[in-house]
Amino acid sequence: MTATETGATGTGVPKFRIEGLAFGYGDAIVQHDVSFDVDDKSIFAIMGGSGCGKSTLMKTMIGLLEPMAIHVDDEDYWRATEERRAEIGRRFGVVFQSGALWSSMTAEDNVALPLRMFTRLNDAMIKDLARLKLSLVGLDMAPSTMPSELSGGMRRRVGIARALSLDPGVLFLDEPSAGLDPIAAKRLDDLIVELRNGFGVTVIMVSHELPSLLGICDDGIFLDAESKTVIARGSPKSMLEDKQHPVVRAFMHRERLAPEPHHRSIGDGNR
Ligand SMILES: Nc1ncnc2c1ncn2[C@@H]1O[C@H](COP(=O)(O)OP(=O)(O)O)[C@@H](O)[C@H]1O
Ligand SMILES: [Mg+2]
Repeated sequence: MTATETGATGTGVPKFRIEGLAFGYGDAIVQHDVSFDVDDKSIFAIMGGSGCGKSTLMKTMIGLLEPMAIHVDDEDYWRATEERRAEIGRRFGVVFQSGALWSSMTAEDNVALPLRMFTRLNDAMIKDLARLKLSLVGLDMAPSTMPSELSGGMRRRVGIARALSLDPGVLFLDEPSAGLDPIAAKRLDDLIVELRNGFGVTVIMVSHELPSLLGICDDGIFLDAESKTVIARGSPKSMLEDKQHPVVRAFMHRERLAPEPHHRSIGDGNR
C-alpha cells in the first residue's frame, strides 16, 4: 500500500512553513537558505547524504536548536513566548535517530513517561493510555515486558508509541527503519501510513531507505552537503527523474558518484 494508493496525501494546508532557515552549531553553518512547506497530514521526507544536516534540521524544527525563522500553523514558533513554545512543542512527537528506550523501565512505563511528566492523570488512567498507545502501534504485551525482551522492530514501535503518548499532531522520525530487516521495515512503513490516514498525524521523517521513501512519502526535500542547502524538493518519486543534480540521482538510484571522498558516504555507501 502506498500513500498514493490510499488516496490520502497532504491537505495542501501548510503545517510547517520554513523560510530562509539557517542552522548549525556555533559558528559552523550546516545548512542555509532552507525554505520549504510541510503540508498538514503529509508524510514528508528529509533526504540527503550522511552528515548533510538531516538530524540537525529535525532538532531545529522541534525547537532544540535556535533557528532563524520557523512557523507552525502560521504562528511564529521561535518568537513566541517560552510558554507558548512549550505548548506548541508538546504537539510534536519525536523519535530521535538513537531512539533508545529506557532499558531499566518496562516498555509500558517508557510510553507512560511523558504522560507522567506532562499530565495530571491518575496512575490507572496513565496505564490505560499507555496500553492503548501500544495497541495503536500493534503491540500487545504483558505489563512487565522489558525493552530487552523485544525485537528491534518492536522496540521502534514502542518508541513511536511513546512519541504518540501526548497525541501529537506532528510525528518526527529520524531514520525509523534503519537497521531493521526488510519485513519489519515494511511493517513500520505501513504503521506510519496508518497513523497518518487514521489519526491525521503529519509525519516528518529522515530516511535513507528507498522502499520507504518511494512507498510512503508524498513530499520532501533533499539537502546537499556541499552547497549546504536544499537542491531538490518534491516527492521522492519525482526525484528519481532529477536530471540537474548527480548527487540526487545517485542517492535515489543507489549509484556511486565519481570517487570524491566527500561524496562517498551518500546513501550510506553500500546499503
Ligand atoms: N552536537 C554537534 N556539535 C557540532 N557539530 C555537530 C553536532 N552534531 C552534528 N554535527 C555536525 O553537523 C553536521 C550535520 O550532522 P547531522 O545533522 O547529524 O547529519 P545527518 O543527520 O544528515 O547525517 C555534521 O557535519 C556533523 O558532524
Ligand atoms: Mg542523522
